Amino acid sequence: MNSDQHILVTGGAGYIGAHTVVELLSAGYKVTVVDTLERSEYRMIEGIESITGIRVDFHKIDCLDFVALDTLFAANDFSAVIHFAAYKSVNESVVKPLEYYNNNLGSLLSVLEVMKKHHVQDIIFSSSCTVYGQPDQIQVDESAPFKTAESPYGSTKQLCEHILKDVATDGFRVISLRYFNPIGAHPSAMIGELPIGVPNNLVPYVTQTAAGVRDKLTVFGNDYNTLDGSCVRDFIHVSDVASAHVKAIDYLNQQQKGNLFDAYNLGTGQGVSVLQLVKKFIEVTGVKLPYTIGSRRPGDVEKVYADPSKINKAFGWSTTYDLGQSLIHAWQWEKKIRNLKGI
Ligand code: NAD
Ligand code: WQD
Repeated sequence: MNSDQHILVTGGAGYIGAHTVVELLSAGYKVTVVDTLERSEYRMIEGIESITGIRVDFHKIDCLDFVALDTLFAANDFSAVIHFAAYKSVNESVVKPLEYYNNNLGSLLSVLEVMKKHHVQDIIFSSSCTVYGQPDQIQVDESAPFKTAESPYGSTKQLCEHILKDVATDGFRVISLRYFNPIGAHPSAMIGELPIGVPNNLVPYVTQTAAGVRDKLTVFGNDYNTLDGSCVRDFIHVSDVASAHVKAIDYLNQQQKGNLFDAYNLGTGQGVSVLQLVKKFIEVTGVKLPYTIGSRRPGDVEKVYADPSKINKAFGWSTTYDLGQSLIHAWQWEKKIRNLKGI
């Protein structure tokens, strides 16, 4: 049990944050969540409570609000912060770059300031495979350089990692987790992804199409140099992403005190094409999924997946769900939120 350790989770009502809170509570950690609920809903907190049977200490606080964070830190004895709070849409970031720089950099800076003031050293940061830009390697390891970011969103993740690397010399211990493509939902279907408007990401578009909310899925390009012409990605179950955060906290607990910055890829290590995913969805759910082939989406990388050997070795972490299970869980969640029965 780790009940003596109190973890602050920013953005903990969001998709990955909520799944991580479930894993932390299940591992015996005490958890406090802050979230504006701007990009999520309180039902995620209720879902966490239904799964774990534990009441969540939730505060509607904006991470840009230093005074509110300061008051929260003064009233609690946090041992670490997991910082999810950020905006995450690539497309939106192109239209609203200032909002993205302001929120994604501002929230990190304010969290670091308050941590420093209250002598909290350990932070786990939500980074992204997007930091690699268009990588030269197909199976990317952490030594790959940051290429030009494909979007302001990607730039914010690169800049946040730079900031974290710099502050690590100032008493912080930082683990940056570079997620590849998180998909799926908790197996209980109590929590999952709540996309705003028309989804940009593949799996929510797939489940919304299967649910009849969208007419058909467009596969963006079938003329890439891949096994079936569609792009290849590393799709990882969100609960596996979540469990890696618990392992990261456990790992920091085992390290000597002192400065630390380390980044880890968080993926399965398996490349899966868009068409393979579509076919797998139809196979495992048995539902109809109308789709058509469209033109390439600007900015898409042809083929990229993680080399996760660093995190496998350092944390003793590996994935537990396969693609079929991830898609079944995504579909169960979609049916739950749409109140669909009998399909
Ligand atoms: P999400 O939008 O579901 O969750 C983010 C949460 O943060 C939301 O609940 C939102 O209301 C909250 N939030 C945003 N700004 C805030 C602020 N200033 N103060 C307090 N709360 C704030 O997104 P997610 O998919 O759970 O992503 C979590 C993190 O992981 C983000 O940093 C994202 O950039 C990163 N990430 C996500 C993916 C992905 O595909 N989902 C991939 C790589 C990295
Ligand atoms: C996957 C594949 C599309 C929708 C994004 C961010 C990245 C990270 C993860 C945050 C691509 C294809 C999609 C559709 C399609 N997020 N597709 N039809 O682009 O790999 O990564 O999410 O950090 O930064 O860029 O994910 O789910 O948008 O696309 O054919 O309707 O599915 O072209 O090949 P992506 P995605």
